[in-house]
Amino acid sequence: MPMDFVKVTKAAKPYVALVELNRPKELNALNSQLLHELRNAMQELDRDEAVRAIVITGNARAFAAGADIKEMADKTAVEMMTYKQSGVWGDLKKIAKPVVAAVSGFCLGGGCELAMTCDIIVAAESAQFGQPEIKLGILPGAGGTQRLTHAVGKARAMDLILTGRFFSAAEAERWGLVSRIVPDDTYLAEALHLAETIAQMPPVAVRLAKESVNAAFELPLTEGLQLETKNAALLFSTEDQKEGMKAFVEKRKANFVGK
Ligand code: CAA
Repeated sequence: MPMDFVKVTKAAKPYVALVELNRPKELNALNSQLLHELRNAMQELDRDEAVRAIVITGNARAFAAGADIKEMADKTAVEMMTYKQSGVWGDLKKIAKPVVAAVSGFCLGGGCELAMTCDIIVAAESAQFGQPEIKLGILPGAGGTQRLTHAVGKARAMDLILTGRFFSAAEAERWGLVSRIVPDDTYLAEALHLAETIAQMPPVAVRLAKESVNAAFELPLTEGLQLETKNAALLFSTEDQKEGMKAFVEKRKANFVGK
């Protein structure tokens, strides 16, 4: 299906797909069409065996400046319930393949929430993050109150969400929201390189490792540890585990097939 606001490049690097938000005039404000296109693109890439890692990016000026305020302004509470229940945000979180956010420029509101649904955030050094919803009389309603708090802790999340102030890539990295800060002119190349490195790993192990790490945010410790034990054991049923360990013993590079 043709897409207006999302551009997908398959094999941007071996086994890596690049998903670009493409509403530059509006700083990639996330209107419902863009979000639906993004959800559809991500689900298709999740099913595509030729894809092992996905990078989501915007452009140099903005990853995304938030949900589309103009689209939301006149909505009623009931319409907002339906809007949310379209389930796009939940569907994005269900993507099983590793997703890297390559962030430059503004990463605000729903844009920051989108980056936080990704597994790893790589930020250009001048990127600016924020949950400024409070200034609009609302709150971060696409996961921000929960995911930002998990990432940076309660005191900082309160500080950021109740004041709406922007925070720098350096702060985001220091607080654990961002994993890497890179020079402005190489942020996308660095994110693609990171995704390529992950894509070279055995895909079933990557998938189960992602599931296990995410469980740390959903499950009590004992249950999370049980899931980890089961997933770790399950990997011993894969060809890639046999190949990975055999290759180590034979001192050669492993050839992973994803089975
Ligand atoms: N929604 C709709 N349009 C937006 C937008 C948004 N979130 N952010 C920017 N735009 C539009 C602007 O209206 C402007 O359009 P026009 O040229 O037609 O006027 C265009 O993008 C460029 O923006 P600016 O002229 O404002 O650019 P700037 O450099 O002066 O300022 C900015 C940049 C500081 C990011 C400013 O645009 C801004 O504050 N944007 C809104 C940020 C925000 O509040 N985000 C939260 C949205 S609510 C939300 O996300 C809810 C949720 O939890 C899901």
